[in-house]
Amino acid sequence: MGNIVVGQSGGPTAVINSSVAGVYEAAKAAGVNKVYGMVFGIQGFLEEKILDLDEYLSTQDGIELLMRTPSAFLGSCRFKMPKPEDGTQVYERIFEVMEKNDIDALFYIGGNDSMDTVKMLSDYAAAHGKKQRFVGVPKTVDNDLPVTDHCPGFGSAAKYIATSLKELIRDNAVYGDYRTAVLIVEIMGRHAGWLAAAAALAKDETCEGVDAIYLPEIVFDVDAFVDKVDALTKEKKTIVIAVSEGIKVADGRFVCELTGAGGAKDAFGHTQLSGCGVFLAQLLSSKLGVKARAVELSTLQRAATHIASLTDIEEARMAGKAAVNAALSGETGVMVTLNRVSDNPYKCETAVHDIHSIANVERNVPFNWVGEDGCSMTEEFEAYARPLIMGELVPIYENGTPKHLVRK
Ligand code: F6P
Repeated sequence: MGNIVVGQSGGPTAVINSSVAGVYEAAKAAGVNKVYGMVFGIQGFLEEKILDLDEYLSTQDGIELLMRTPSAFLGSCRFKMPKPEDGTQVYERIFEVMEKNDIDALFYIGGNDSMDTVKMLSDYAAAHGKKQRFVGVPKTVDNDLPVTDHCPGFGSAAKYIATSLKELIRDNAVYGDYRTAVLIVEIMGRHAGWLAAAAALAKDETCEGVDAIYLPEIVFDVDAFVDKVDALTKEKKTIVIAVSEGIKVADGRFVCELTGAGGAKDAFGHTQLSGCGVFLAQLLSSKLGVKARAVELSTLQRAATHIASLTDIEEARMAGKAAVNAALSGETGVMVTLNRVSDNPYKCETAVHDIHSIANVERNVPFNWVGEDGCSMTEEFEAYARPLIMGELVPIYENGTPKHLVRK
């Protein structure tokens, strides 16, 4: 095979760079000459913004630092591929840049929207007799890609959420029974509640856990929520509630839209979701007269590489390697999947799956993993998620903070 290129797309995760490391390592081990990185995903690639990863990763130190670096080292994009009939020049340009740089395979690390890019490009190649291969590497904190057991990036965000909630629950209880305190923690995840569900992992021998978890999969009833908190305040003084940024009321509006503020939309038409926690905290203060505050974990939960899960890091790297091996054995138009082969001990293997049944499909939290009250998680969820947050990779500290690898 000639040269290859790897790109990162969509919202970053704490381990998206470990997949770049995996792609690089497997390609070099197979004797690939140049491993290019596309800067700012396919959008940058259209302007031939590429770099030679040898510049950064040819030593083990580079790889070690990359795996401890948050965000997308190469930069990312939210670029929607046009239909071939509406944007021939986009496709021609991508293949032109590939041919000019002798690139035979393109690896795209991303979520649902990014897998659409892999699908469009591999379909175009097939329809036009092009030899280049296109392989997707799963990534998303939202954990909503279908077919794969879970997505690299989810475990680390879940670990951050569980850890932060343990800390926030302690903080919220600081005045004991002398003051009622309600804390609403807003968690990412758009239409799927996997990350909000991870709040359940805060509960252990030293932490009583959260009092309720609200997922986007379950219609949110504002009045029932206020009644629930009212009832809780009669039983206890400190209350912590996890809510997904994507919770919706019965008429389909996001709770964050009830404030009247309309969020900006991205190229895929996704509304920016933010503010349901503040809205609910203010509502509780005014309706119940309690002290209520909101914390929005926002990008902290996907940027927190200092507390990434080692399991997640290793699987992200493994997925990158599997993608290269798949392309080397002739695969194209596929995404790498993680298949859980055992729970105890936890073990996962990689496989590949046709991109057509993956792109643009979102996988939700199964209803049978939600408690009967509609706002708690079952033991099955914990058995699924707990192994994914296990293990740590200690940062390399410099001047008191973790050191990162940054593009020149
Ligand atoms: O990529 C997933 C995600 O992190 C969602 O959980 C969140 O709603 C969205 O991205 C935010 O995207 P952006 O970085 O475009 O604001």
